[in-house]
Amino acid sequence: MDEVTLDERVQVWGSRLAAGLPSGGLRRPRAGAEQLMMRWLIGDPRLRAALFRFVDVRPACHSRSELVRHLSELLEEAGGRERFGAGEGPVDGEHSGVARRLARLTGRRALELPTAAAAALGVASMAHRFIAGEDAEAAAGELRSLWEHGRCVTLDLLGEATLTEGEGELYAERCTQTLRTLAQLGAAWQPAPMLDHDGLGPLPRANLSVKVSALTPHLRANAPRRALEAARERLLALLRLARELDAHLHVDMESLDTRESITELFLELLARDEFVAGPSAGIVLQAYLTDSEEQLERLLAWVEGNPRGAPFTVRLVKGAYWDHEVVLAAQHGWRTPVFTDRRACDRHYEHLTRRLLDARAGGLALRPAIASHNLRSLAHALAYADALRLEPEAVELQVLRGLGDDTAAAINACGRRVRVYCPVGDLVAGMAYLVRRLLENTSNDSFLAALGSGADLRLLLERP
Ligand code: 2OP
Repeated sequence: MDEVTLDERVQVWGSRLAAGLPSGGLRRPRAGAEQLMMRWLIGDPRLRAALFRFVDVRPACHSRSELVRHLSELLEEAGGRERFGAGEGPVDGEHSGVARRLARLTGRRALELPTAAAAALGVASMAHRFIAGEDAEAAAGELRSLWEHGRCVTLDLLGEATLTEGEGELYAERCTQTLRTLAQLGAAWQPAPMLDHDGLGPLPRANLSVKVSALTPHLRANAPRRALEAARERLLALLRLARELDAHLHVDMESLDTRESITELFLELLARDEFVAGPSAGIVLQAYLTDSEEQLERLLAWVEGNPRGAPFTVRLVKGAYWDHEVVLAAQHGWRTPVFTDRRACDRHYEHLTRRLLDARAGGLALRPAIASHNLRSLAHALAYADALRLEPEAVELQVLRGLGDDTAAAINACGRRVRVYCPVGDLVAGMAYLVRRLLENTSNDSFLAALGSGADLRLLLERP
């Protein structure tokens, strides 16, 4: 199909999705502290740097109030020294509640608080939007409600960058418990044809996303052999349990320095005879990496060379470690491994989407999952799948809880399958995740931020 015809179909899908956005895609007003923090972070590199530093000290915080205190100190150092005062806004009107809550958490008088402290509280209040609960059990009501609204889920256990073997073991235990809980919960949900099957067979209701770096300390290219062995044993046990429970196990990709170890480990285990029949499994592909096409070809060749009973899922994302990769490369004088131009990255994402859908249409036992909040990227996948005459269930779209709720509603309105990535855990464990969402949300390239600030939809749907 030529590019012009495809683009016309993308526009039609884009408009359909946009029409399905609740309240025309306009964002609901945020809590005061969150708004303040967003305003502040946008375009202030010092604050963005402070957030990075914060993720490094995170393990030293044990409670929510400790965390807010540390963060506010760090942000204050980074430049947020102005104080709340009469007429300045934060203490008056809508922000006085913020100041009061902050004073409680930090043990200071509301009027003495620097605005940095409000920003810190903003981070904490965002957590409620992104985190579904302390654990799967606590999120049970929400997971059921999502299912009843036509949305399936994958759970993510917060708490990454494990520092000790004990933490790795604990993470593995939480994964085990979560798989069991999800299998139990899912069994009680009503049948939902769009969520339960596609043309390749049944879709497991229990679906867990795993961060392999949380299974062991020091996961990197030169990791000690023992650390990798521990990760292998833990991942192996999870694959066996997923097979037993008929659950799906998805391996998340993290920063580039761990990609090779994670991919090698996972594919090696999955190729074992004991996993020929199951479980259903998948991996993430990050389109922002300039070499991701090679990585995709490697995955496709692996799927072709390792026939299994359950199809292999590839979740295509843009990538959430952009700032990290850029900073790290600059520090070491390396070539930047990610696209630095948003349009080039979006084009590459569309290119990889077509490659995935072509492979599926060509008969490979592959499930493409298109994970994005960019309506153009989603519309492109739907339009191309139609052009290939794939069945409507063949393409799964994925969004993040909290950021992608409106997008999920739009996908529902169009009758396509959407899976919501739901983090569970506590705020302290979730800081690294929250900071990634914050940096995405306040970047100049954020599609959702552009949509929320009233940018012209036609421009947003333009071919990148
Ligand atoms: C992250 O943890 C969503 O896996 C992605 O940032």
